[in-house]
Amino acid sequence: MIYLDSGATSFYKPPGVEQAVRCALETCANPGRGGHAAAMRAAQTVLRCRETAGKMFDCPTEQVVFTSNCTHSLNIAIGTLVKPGSRVVISGFEHNAVTRPLHALGAQVTVAGRTLFNWDNTLEEFEQALKKGATAAVFTHCSNVFGYILPVAEMAALCRQYQVPFIVDAAQSAGTLPVSLKKWGADFIAMPGHKGLLGPQGTGLLLCGCAPKPLLLGGTGSDSVNQEMPDFLPDRLEAGTLNVPGVAGLGAGLSYLQKVGIDRVHKRECAQAKRCAEGLQKLGMQVFTGEHQSGTVSFVPEGDCEELAQKLADRKIAVRAGLHCAPLAHESAGTLKTGTVRISYGYDAAPWQTGELISALERCKFF
Ligand code: ALA
Repeated sequence: MIYLDSGATSFYKPPGVEQAVRCALETCANPGRGGHAAAMRAAQTVLRCRETAGKMFDCPTEQVVFTSNCTHSLNIAIGTLVKPGSRVVISGFEHNAVTRPLHALGAQVTVAGRTLFNWDNTLEEFEQALKKGATAAVFTHCSNVFGYILPVAEMAALCRQYQVPFIVDAAQSAGTLPVSLKKWGADFIAMPGHKGLLGPQGTGLLLCGCAPKPLLLGGTGSDSVNQEMPDFLPDRLEAGTLNVPGVAGLGAGLSYLQKVGIDRVHKRECAQAKRCAEGLQKLGMQVFTGEHQSGTVSFVPEGDCEELAQKLADRKIAVRAGLHCAPLAHESAGTLKTGTVRISYGYDAAPWQTGELISALERCKFF
């Protein structure tokens, strides 16, 4: 299979990930729940992964929290910063993982910046919205639909200037773009473990720059007499048994990225996305491409998006079609009615994949 759906999850994992998961299953018990060898091995495995993530994202080790996915992380972050009915600024490219929790809280949401690939528009509208006052801002680092990389460092600086706490959704950027809790001064950064970080599904991270409100309450293996959740991290947010095999695999994914370098991964993915966009344009598709674009490209064919994706699937090419759980992004780009077909490259992006995709599309005779 030619896998071009890395925006949904990484599929072909790098060497070491599967082995680390198997090793954890065979040798690890419950971390922090015993002093015996198997529990200690689990604790070591978890600590190593936490330390590696902390180094990669400029975050003190104990402020790296394991969650089950990016949505879980965002729910904790939003639940901490957003009071019911309060005013929140978001970008025009947010995922339902941001907009649904805000909707549930009855937040008054201001959408700032809806022009794709246009940093001036994003920053101007974002600043205007912050000026009017907000209790929080939430913005994605990179659109999951269009691969638009937002100017997060500048947006973070504006939040600091207007003293608005903020959350960065790094769902599509962690592992391919630099992410730094310290440099941005973020209150929270949420990310999945199974996409760019190349770990197994069921893993996520939350980098905490401020005191969080727990979403889950329960045992932590620490401060057990206290019926409140511990007031220290990471225990405050890690109630219940961790996904140790998942964390072990994530640790191997992070180590692989450290070796290869995320800059190289990003360059590889972007090069193919550019080539792909050019090929699609030659085929007469409506392609969304521009400056500040990652390894993700969306396009609208003449016919139905889902049908085309199915035709590609029949030819053993995996892409995603539809709204990609981000109706707001489609509303911003004017594709809410049609959806798009999305090509999203991963760390193994290579010219042959693009070549096969474009010739398969030619053969589909859809247009
Ligand atoms: N949010 C993921 C995607 O964009 C699942 O496909």
